Amino acid sequence: MSLLKVSNLGVQFQTNDGVVSAVNGVSFELEKGQTLGIVGESGSGKSQTVLAMMGLLARNGKTSGEALYQGKNLLAMSPAELNRIRGDRLAMIFQDPMTSLNPYLTVERQMTEVLELHKGISRRDAKKRAIELLDAVRIPEAARRINMYPHEFSGGMRQRVMIAMALLCEPEVLIADEPTTALDVTVQAQILTLLKELQRDFGTSIVMITHDLGVVAGLCEKVMVMYGGRAMEYGSADNIFYQPSHPYTIGLLGALPRLDHDGSELVSIPGNPPNMARMPKGCPFSERCTHASSRCADELPALAASSVNPQVLRACHKPADELQQAAQEVAHV
Ligand SMILES: Nc1ncnc2c1ncn2[C@@H]1O[C@H](COP(=O)(O)OP(=O)(O)OP(=O)(O)O)[C@@H](O)[C@H]1O
Ligand code: SF4
Ligand SMILES: [Mg+2]
Repeated sequence: MSLLKVSNLGVQFQTNDGVVSAVNGVSFELEKGQTLGIVGESGSGKSQTVLAMMGLLARNGKTSGEALYQGKNLLAMSPAELNRIRGDRLAMIFQDPMTSLNPYLTVERQMTEVLELHKGISRRDAKKRAIELLDAVRIPEAARRINMYPHEFSGGMRQRVMIAMALLCEPEVLIADEPTTALDVTVQAQILTLLKELQRDFGTSIVMITHDLGVVAGLCEKVMVMYGGRAMEYGSADNIFYQPSHPYTIGLLGALPRLDHDGSELVSIPGNPPNMARMPKGCPFSERCTHASSRCADELPALAASSVNPQVLRACHKPADELQQAAQEVAHV
């Protein structure tokens, strides 16, 4: 049994402009110790996918489908049941640490409270454990700094504090929603290395959300590429990087800096993501796809095994073998 098995997940929002289908028919599985990257441009439905699983959608949002954690459907749990699991077995780190850190409490108070609540251990033991974790995420002088307030830390350090908080209860699944986007490149690399080490040392499974395929390359075994609220391609990171088989993935890879290029050929995908309240009836990517045919605008492609590599699932009418030339030009080999 997979640790996490999401099947046909849907998220819909009621708005004044009509119903927004932010996530449609998304499915993935995560085994113990595995890392899944969810990649896509802004608005593709990455965050809502994981917020739905965690029971953290905005009030106008509704879910459908299933998200099984150890065989139990998170989407059908009572708030009390979900609260017990969230922050304990499933933890989340956000792009902005201040969404999960309380500015009015010292780091010590926030960390020890979590342990007292979920693990029922004494304040003294909780403090000891909290300092160990701050050490593990390389906060210098953790024993002293634990008495500080979140605003007394730099951006990168706050992110580390949030990671330490998320790891307090040794979660089985860590969901990281663009945890490094706001940080400068050096700190970004340090945090990614840290996540890799934590995964190795704690055996934590990670769901890493990012718009940057470069982040995924060094960290993830599996990748799901999302566009317009749907999975466009899903497979092992190796397959996605070396043999991309979907025009959108090929576009994203083409926009990624390469070591063997001087950067002058860098192109982003022309056009903008679709309006989620008025999605095209066919392929969501049809308006920007250089491979589109007349069928693409009318008929939604189903996610199905690639004819070139059955391990990869792709949602595209154009046969994968006809995209191999384009794929080779962008493949990161
Ligand atoms: N409360 C809401 N009401 C209506 N639409 C919403 C609501 N929350 C999110 N959406 C819409 O859902 C879609 C998917 O949003 P989501 O936050 O998952 O994007 P994302 O892929 O995480 O993007 P980003 O990289 O910018 O964080 C977007 O079009 C967004 O506008
Ligand atoms: S279905 Fe058509 S429009 Fe969509 S990605 Fe494939 S070729 Fe492009
Ligand atoms: Mg997001």
